[in-house]
Amino acid sequence: MSTLHKKVVLVTGAAKRVGRGIAIRLAREGATVAIHYGGSEDEAREVSELCGGAPIFRANLESVAEIERLFARVKAECGRLDGLVNNAARFTRFDPLDVTERDWDYIHSVNLKAVFFCCQQGAKRMLESPDVDGRIVNISSLGGIRPWADHAHYCASKAGVIHMTRALAKAFAPKITVNSVAPGVIPFGEEDTPEVREWIRRTPAERVGTADDIAEGVLYFLKASNYVTGQILAVDGGLSQA
Ligand SMILES: NC(=O)c1ccc[n+]([C@@H]2O[C@H](COP(=O)([O-])OP(=O)(O)OC[C@H]3O[C@@H](n4cnc5c(N)ncnc54)[C@H](OP(=O)(O)O)[C@@H]3O)[C@@H](O)[C@H]2O)c1
Repeated sequence: MSTLHKKVVLVTGAAKRVGRGIAIRLAREGATVAIHYGGSEDEAREVSELCGGAPIFRANLESVAEIERLFARVKAECGRLDGLVNNAARFTRFDPLDVTERDWDYIHSVNLKAVFFCCQQGAKRMLESPDVDGRIVNISSLGGIRPWADHAHYCASKAGVIHMTRALAKAFAPKITVNSVAPGVIPFGEEDTPEVREWIRRTPAERVGTADDIAEGVLYFLKASNYVTGQILAVDGGLSQA
């Protein structure tokens, strides 16, 4: 997919923060963006306007039935599906000794299970087109590469996304590529806290990331040839190497 012109790309969790930045960037590149949201309808409508009136779709990604309906609606309204960016996720921070079954399921239902079923549904819809040249980009995390003690459950979900990306790249080749962007620290309105200042001090690039930095990585995978698949791109200012 060398250009996004006339391509339909679904971005999950696109109403706010990183997903919003990805959706707006892809629309600027000429894509028809299908904007998924969970609860943030007003923000999704705002992103729709910024994306030239792009369609919005609500779905609770905890439910596989809702995921199936989401992809059916995108296909029906947009006519085709060329790309999927699995961005929606949850984050919590707990001492592993305190994590309950409910805490574990809260994270894994969205961060890992939903990403798998979105990949499955996305691949099925893409394969329905005779000229399929599909692209899936899963947003993982630096936490899936480097272990952090106070969110082991989240790190496990994102490490799962990374390994699942590699497995699905094999499963869906050669018609669909599956890659992952692993963001570093992308704060929104929390830039001037002691914690973020400490992250900046430890980051070789001497700054935190932005939604645009992540969108740039996503764009690379969407536009790359099908010779690029199963890859993980850390967009983290070099933090994973520090
Ligand atoms: N921000 C960072 O520093 C950072 C670092 C590493 C990795 N990442 C990854 O980058 C991606 C974007 O990060 P972010 O901070 O922008 O994410 P976020 O704000 O925490 O979440 C993105 C969106 O996910 C949607 N979502 C969550 N649970 C859902 C559910 N059950 N059903 C439907 N939608 C659901 C929410 O949509 P609604 O608001 O519409 O409900 C939310 O706006 C995530 O995959 C995250 O793990 C972020």
